[in-house]
Amino acid sequence: MLKNDLLLRAAKGLEVERAPVWLMRQAGRVLPEYRATRSKAKNFVEFVKTPELAAEVTVQPVTILGVDAAIIFSDILVIPEAMGLPYEMIEAKGPRFPNTINSKTDIDKLKIAEAGDLDYVMQALKLTKRELNNSVPLIGFCGAPWTILAYMVEGSGSKTFSKAKQFLYTQPELAHQLLEKITLSSINYLKGQVAAGADLLQIFDSWAGVLSEKMFYEFSLKYISQICDALSPLVPVTVFAKDAHDGIEKIAQTTCSSIGLDWTIDPLTARKQAENKTLQGNADPCLLYADEKTIIAQTQTMLKTFGKQKYICNLGHGLYPDIDKEKVKLFVDVVKGYGW
Ligand code: CP3
Repeated sequence: MLKNDLLLRAAKGLEVERAPVWLMRQAGRVLPEYRATRSKAKNFVEFVKTPELAAEVTVQPVTILGVDAAIIFSDILVIPEAMGLPYEMIEAKGPRFPNTINSKTDIDKLKIAEAGDLDYVMQALKLTKRELNNSVPLIGFCGAPWTILAYMVEGSGSKTFSKAKQFLYTQPELAHQLLEKITLSSINYLKGQVAAGADLLQIFDSWAGVLSEKMFYEFSLKYISQICDALSPLVPVTVFAKDAHDGIEKIAQTTCSSIGLDWTIDPLTARKQAENKTLQGNADPCLLYADEKTIIAQTQTMLKTFGKQKYICNLGHGLYPDIDKEKVKLFVDVVKGYGW
């Protein structure tokens, strides 16, 4: 039994004494302790593949920041790699794929990943679970099929992902074939994560916002929905589709338990659009650049607006590496000390 199961109760819509808090990218460069552990690995990809190091940085924010959940340290790009498309992480630039997907032949060559292809993540989950010693829940995750396709076709990050979108517009059937393969791989992967100890899963659709509403439903939400159907019977699933604006109402029709919101979404509007779901979010990470008084006031306003029940406190996207660790801690403390 978990000593602190606030996150799981909130996700399931059960009563809580206060809202749980965790932060996207809590295991990251904001913590000097993360940077110290990271320097022990040759590069980012090797770091992710070393279960002892991954488990170490997964536990760090629980101990140092006092958050109510751990999220396994890994990356969404391990799925393309397990399917046969390796990635690199270029310092200060981001991900890069030496080979990209352009044709039917490329797609046919990809395999449907099994949990066993990602054994290093399973080992990291098991180790972390042991180290957490039932203190807080452990979150597993994957990228949404559209966001994964976007990297596989584009070959790197992009402001517009126009190459990936070109693929959707010019070769929609191939795009669906690829999305299907990614979806099946992600389902296998997430089932493995649950078997290895993940208590809740989050699907990150970081690039939902570059799609039109119609294309979001056709090329993204359809597959997110399939993943939710496969995993929701096992553990609660959170869908975070960044910049999906008008998509909240449709996301609420999937079998997910909670919906992650970015900071452009009005909490009360989202409540009306997703009455049946728990909401997660949605402070602007840049709020943590502000002075302490502003951070306290704006965080408290957010908590009051969302309310105590069916709410998971988080940011609207990941922490930026240059945010002051003390400000992050302040944010967490404000949530935990709020007059719930
Ligand atoms: O604490 C956590 O949130 C868990 C770990 C985690 C990482 N990546 C570690 C990481 C998670 C959940 C992710 C997901 C991820 N990875 C997403 C979805 C979430 C989002 O941010 O929208 C995406 C799009 C990626 C792909 C990715 N990985 C990019 C674009 C980058 C470069 C950006 C950067 O900050 O440098 C990464 C690298 C990465 N993944 C880092 C971390 C801690 C920074 C790398 C480093 O240590 O140098």
